[in-house]
Parts: sequence; C-alpha cells; structure tokens
Amino acid sequence: MAAKPRITVLGTGYLGATHAICMAVLGYEVLGIDTDEAKIAALADGRVPFYEPGLPEMLSKALETGRLRFGTDIAEAAEFGDVHFVCVGTPQMKDSPAADMTYVDAVVTDLAKHLTRRALVVGKSTVPVGTAARLTQLLQSTAPAGDQVELAWNPEFLREGFAVEDTMRPDRLVFGVASDWALEQLQAAFAPLLEAEVPVVVTDLPTAELVKVSANSFLATKISFINAMAEVCETTGADVQQLAAALSFDPRIGGRFLRPGLGFGGGCLPKDIRAFIHRTEELGVGQAVSFLREVDAINQRRRQRTVDLIRSQAGGSLAGVTICALGAAFKPDSDDIRDAPALDVARLLQAEGAIVRVYDPQAMENARKAYPDLHYATGVAEAAEGAQVVALLTEWDQFRDIDPEWLGEIVAVRAIVDGRHALDPVAWRAASWDYRALGRAVDP
Ligand code: UGA
Repeated sequence: MAAKPRITVLGTGYLGATHAICMAVLGYEVLGIDTDEAKIAALADGRVPFYEPGLPEMLSKALETGRLRFGTDIAEAAEFGDVHFVCVGTPQMKDSPAADMTYVDAVVTDLAKHLTRRALVVGKSTVPVGTAARLTQLLQSTAPAGDQVELAWNPEFLREGFAVEDTMRPDRLVFGVASDWALEQLQAAFAPLLEAEVPVVVTDLPTAELVKVSANSFLATKISFINAMAEVCETTGADVQQLAAALSFDPRIGGRFLRPGLGFGGGCLPKDIRAFIHRTEELGVGQAVSFLREVDAINQRRRQRTVDLIRSQAGGSLAGVTICALGAAFKPDSDDIRDAPALDVARLLQAEGAIVRVYDPQAMENARKAYPDLHYATGVAEAAEGAQVVALLTEWDQFRDIDPEWLGEIVAVRAIVDGRHALDPVAWRAASWDYRALGRAVDP
C-alpha cells in the first residue's frame, strides 16, 4: 500500500467539513480549503457553521491532534496534498433541472494550475455521469504535471443528522478508478476503514458516478411509492401506516425509507433526481428513468395535499385561521431548509390567508433569513397559542414527545394534522384531539 497521503479537502460545506474533520481524527494530516473566509475562520476556531449532532465534538478532537488546518489558498493545497478531495456543491441551476457544475469546474481548474507533481484528485460531489471523464481531460491539460495527475471518483453517501456515523462507519466505499496507482492511493487514504472491513466496490469512473445518483433515485422512489399508496388509501379508507408496516416484514422490501407523509426534501434527493432525468435525456436514454418524473410529481403533490387536509381541519377555509406549524427543517436533526416540505406548506397556508406561526428547534435562523414574511415563535407554546389547527411538519423528537393534554390547554381548537405520521393517534384522540394524517383512516 502507498505511504500515508497528506490530504486536502476542497469545499468545507456540509460534506467537506465532515470529511476533513473525520480524516484528521482517523490519523491523516488534513488541510481544508474554502473560498468563504467566515466559514474557514469559524472552523479554525472550533465552530461548525451548521447544525450536525456530534460534529462539534469531533472538530475539537481533530483540532487537538494538530493534524487539521483550514485555509483559503488553493496554491497551498496543491503544494501540501497528495490526495485532494473535491467536496463542493452541485446545486440545481436556477432555470433548469440540470446540476450547476460551476463550483466543481472552478475548483478543479484552480487546483490544476498549481499541481506540479504527482497527485490524485478525488471527486466526491454528486455529478452528472460523464463528468469524471471531462474533468480528467481538464485536469491533465491544465496541470503543469500533466498526466502525472490522475482523477478518481469516490461518491459520498452520508446523511445529514448522521454525518459523523456515516463517515466513520460507512455502509460501503466505492472507488471509481482509471489505474492501479489511483486505487493504491485511495486504499492508503482510507486504510483505517479498510482495516475495519468496510465493504469496498472497485469500479470504473462512470459506474462510480452513477452509483450515487442511482442510490438517491432508489431512495426517492421508495418514499414516493409509499406516498402513492397513501393517496390510494386516502380514497379507499385504508390506512397507509398499517400497509407500510405489513410490507416491511418482507425482507425483500424492508421497512426503512418507507415512512409515508409529507415526502422528501433537502439539498440532495429532489435535485439529484431532476439532474439525473436531465442528464439521461441529454444522453438519449431519458426513457429509462422517465418514472422518476412521476416520483418527483408524487412528492410535490404531498405538500398541496397536506395543505388541503389542514384546510379541511380548519372547516373549509384558511382565511384568518391561526396555524401552529411545528418544524421548518427538511428533516429532524438538521438546520437545513433547502427544499424543505415544511416551509413550502407554511407558505402555501399563508398564501391562502392563514396566520402561520412556525417553530423549529434548530432551523429558525435559516428559515427567517429565507422567508422573513412568516411569523416565528420562540417555542411550541408560543406557536400554539390560540391556534385553530396544529400541523406537525418535521418530526423532531421534541414534537413526538409533546403531551397532548398540555398542548390542548394552549390551542383554541384541538385539531391536529400529523404531516409526518410521528404521533400516536390513539393517545391524541384519547385527549379529545381531532387527529388526522394523510393516508390514515379517520377513525381506525
Ligand atoms: C440523502 C441520502 O439518504 C444520503 O445517502 C445521501 O448521501 C444524501 O442524500 C446526499 O446525496 O448527500 P439526506 O438528504 O441527508 O440524505 O436525507 P435523508 O435522510 O435521505 O432524507 C431525505 C428526505 O426524505 C427528508 O425530507 C425525509 O424527511 C424524507 N423521508 C425519508 C421520508 O419522507 N420518508 C422516509 O421514509 C425517509
């Protein structure tokens, strides 16, 4: 195996910061680079600039080892590193479903200009298939070291809320490589995980790129499948929660990612399936994944159907109705509000004239910045004061643990829509709440 490489991480957002911190804890010398000086200053100072359970503690641990540094100078990164991980974002373009490759292209070009010796550049960002081939060309034609510089692809599967766990104990590692040398470098860069017997799939570059988008497409499909069943349940009086439970006993189906409700959001699943559809169409194979359009459409309908249910709970009109909206983040244990179903619902309710009071344990600052026109409360009690309908939109534990009797004393009407199937209908109905959830029998 190659000697222990020195590592750089280019882009210290959610993915990059976690990767840099964990690699330092695993024993590597790491330099994290970002163009955002405030972010770099925070990380260097021991502060994680987003909410992620366990990561602040890991950052302190990593800084204490003296192996982790942060900076903004990409020339320094080129000088320092043997293996360079590209971790910048590939958000959806403003006017198109395609992924915006501006950041990936810029960082690879900037790095390449300074690469004067043998090095491996490893893509981690989620990209359209074919990107690695294009970047190899860009890298080798720009770098002074020419084809001494190679590219590999190592897709990342970490989930927000579990970033540390998923990085330190991944389900699998995928190494997309074009040479034995690149594979040896990757094996050296992940030696502690290989010793821990994490399964590894060694493959070519396009397969490695595709693994990531197909994994996210499959997960999105699973969620939309159960939500499609919820729609059928809604018109037949059946109960999707019991349906999902019954399906989950078949090990070929499994129960994970089969939670019905408001559907998926966040910075990954929605934009990844759209970019994948777009890319397959560019490649002339769009028909193969045309079902993903339906997956997206089912998911989008959940938001309007949740609003419809809340309106019906409010007696048919939302004008002037006070709604307590519990949750803003796209999922619990995150302060991320990108494409958050909860905030979409809050805005749709407000557009119909409702007075919406939002509370989230971690995402308030981000929500307020993005949607200053909504009302924000400092806690559940303030959000619920005099509410005519309570809507649970993100299933934080704090909301699951609410005592229905306690909340009943605060609201004006004991009516609740459980957008995430997170509460026990029996307990809430026993406390005289009119409990409703999409796809669930009204009176089971
Ligand atoms: C997702 C994938 O799960 C990760 O493996 C992947 O690395 C990541 O995208 C990425 O591409 O970077 P994440 O976006 O953090 O991770 O969140 P998930 O836990 O996948 O949840 C996504 C959305 O699906 C959330 O809005 C969640 O509420 C919703 N969901 C999840 C459901 O509605 N039902 C479920 O059964 C599960």
